[in-house]
Amino acid sequence: MSRIGIIGGSGLDQLAALTGVRARRITTAWGEPSAPLLEGCLDGTPVVFLPRHGAAHHLPPHRINYRANIAALRDAGVKEIFAVAAVGGIGHEAGPGTLVVPDQIIDYTWGREHTFHDGLGGRVEHVEFGDPFCPVLRQCLIEAAGQIGQAVVTQGCYGATQGPRLESVAEIGRMARDGCTLVGMTGMPEAALAREAGLAYASCALVVNWAAGLSAEPITMDEILRELREGMGRVVGVLSAAARRRESAAQG
Ligand code: HPA
Repeated sequence: MSRIGIIGGSGLDQLAALTGVRARRITTAWGEPSAPLLEGCLDGTPVVFLPRHGAAHHLPPHRINYRANIAALRDAGVKEIFAVAAVGGIGHEAGPGTLVVPDQIIDYTWGREHTFHDGLGGRVEHVEFGDPFCPVLRQCLIEAAGQIGQAVVTQGCYGATQGPRLESVAEIGRMARDGCTLVGMTGMPEAALAREAGLAYASCALVVNWAAGLSAEPITMDEILRELREGMGRVVGVLSAAARRRESAAQG
């Protein structure tokens, strides 16, 4: 089993580039992950792929069993996770089509099962989360993008909203004032659970629309799907190069 996991998001429910695929059904102490784990090779590098919303994209963000997803990857031997996120752009540098490697996160979600540390074992634990994304994996994504000539924005603050609806103009205004440059619905509790599980985690975000109120026209699903189709190939290119770099680093 590979040490490198990839969590696919909207637009990446199937990883067509994965070869030699073996599906592995895993049940965890926290329940079922979104789909069987798919072990295979991405451009020659062994990886484990998990589509966050299920293989048929049937799970909305608030119904995803994030704990089972992270526990399944950990139980399968994964140590490092590259997460893919389709997001709205808030910062001026984050227009549609842009790839961003976020370095900060703000959690606006509610009511999700968000921790492994729920105190039921009689212990209270507080995990460190000052830098929510692993700096080594972030740097790897940035260098991988450079290696294949793909431009990326190397910082960003991901605001995680509850969904599944999009945000109001006032909500995006508040998020902008808070310092968010991106908005998505799945970054939390995923990033925090990875940290609690001791897994390195970084995200490659593809901006698929301007967030609410930031363009003249209302957001449409057509626009989002078009940007997903156009951009996911570039995301997969960055992931392939990044996975290869981590695999080489592990082999010294
Ligand atoms: N808001 C929240 N999540 C998103 C958006 C958005 O505008 N676009 C893609 N995911």
